[in-house]
Amino acid sequence: MPLNELLNVIFRWAHVIAGIMWIGNSMLFNWLDRNLEKDQALSRLSQGKLYMVHSGAFYDVEKKLLEPGQMPDRMHWFKWQNGFTWLTGISLLVVVYYMNGAGALRDPHVANLDASVACTLSVASLFCGWLAYDALWRIFGEANPRLANVLSIALLFGAIWGFAQAFSGPGAYMQTGVLIGTIMTGNVWLCIMPSQKSLIAATLSGKEQDPVLSLRAKQRSIHNNYLTFPLLFIMISNHFPSATGAPLNWLVLIVVMVGGAGVRHFMNWRYLGGGRQRPKAAWLAPAFAMGGVVVIGLLVLTNLRTGPKVKVDHPVDYARMEEIVSARCVPCHSTHPTDKQFPVAPKNVVFDSPDAIRAMAPRIRAMAVDSQQMPFLNRTNITDVERAEMGVWIDSGALLK
Ligand code: HEC
Repeated sequence: MPLNELLNVIFRWAHVIAGIMWIGNSMLFNWLDRNLEKDQALSRLSQGKLYMVHSGAFYDVEKKLLEPGQMPDRMHWFKWQNGFTWLTGISLLVVVYYMNGAGALRDPHVANLDASVACTLSVASLFCGWLAYDALWRIFGEANPRLANVLSIALLFGAIWGFAQAFSGPGAYMQTGVLIGTIMTGNVWLCIMPSQKSLIAATLSGKEQDPVLSLRAKQRSIHNNYLTFPLLFIMISNHFPSATGAPLNWLVLIVVMVGGAGVRHFMNWRYLGGGRQRPKAAWLAPAFAMGGVVVIGLLVLTNLRTGPKVKVDHPVDYARMEEIVSARCVPCHSTHPTDKQFPVAPKNVVFDSPDAIRAMAPRIRAMAVDSQQMPFLNRTNITDVERAEMGVWIDSGALLK
């Protein structure tokens, strides 16, 4: 195994493990917060209690503030799950997207960037993204959170559009994911942790905690909660070239993110606090509707017909069609592909014989003429004229003569 692939496996494996621990924790604490019961005889500082059963016994959990000076010797923090997820994620970004001349981050058919320019853009957008988001919420977060919300969502969508103009499809998706992950990590380490530290300091000294820190921490933690589903989609998005390679790939991503965050919203909205829940239909129906938004995004937007940019008037015979397919498709779609990335033909689509090409004509039209998702990243440099010629051959009956 080459060194690059070895690092890829190690970081990816660790990334998934740390990510599951982080998101799992975060979901559990969110669930706890929404299910605490307050109607029992609780102490003045208690914020609610609940019982759980797991692994052979009961857990008696209470959320509360502590009396001054009551700080236990050992306090469990939950920060390294997030810390490791981010560190391994950034390492993966370097190994997969920056190394090897940033070959995976760049796509000459999208933008003609040098490797150094592409990597600089990627790093700079992470820094600027965090700074802009953090500044927005520090300035408007307390006085006008609605404005801060609108502006941060607009900035994020603008960034996604920008990434899609600069980077390869998979690169643009992953860059968005790393930006979101970086914002979430900044929230944990630069907002939520300091707030918890100040809570501890306040408890030790018997003073009130600064309410601004507490509000800020709560806001950022809600942001992280909403960002989990979109981020998890991005983590798996590279398996779906129909999405990352769609001409409107940025819009697909925005719609899927909106739908994913919407599902998350109604899963939160379900809980009324104190262990009470809304009726199933009340939250399940809108949650499904948001799921429908995701499906529409993936189904409709990835198949938008753009068609070839040029028209050809001359007839196209099979010999010409075969010439195009051999040059532009067979490097991957063959029983013995020559493209190093695909040792076996993707999706078992093979164009080794006239009959195979003829049988696949409708899919060829959809993938290479209408939506132009093929050739993959246009690695074989098909031209617009060739796309149009394939269309003419298929429209005139896909005849083998
Ligand atoms: C660099 C490699 C590469 C080249 C060149 C390439 N493809 Fe593909 N092709 C892929 C990959 C990867 C997939 C799998 C995509 C997925 O999983 O959605 C695929 C899938 C397909 C599919 C099946 C998708 C479906 O949903 O039916 C068709 C059809 C297809 N390619 C047609 C073509 C045509 C036509 C050409 C030439 C114009 C071409 N491909 C060139 C890599 C390539």
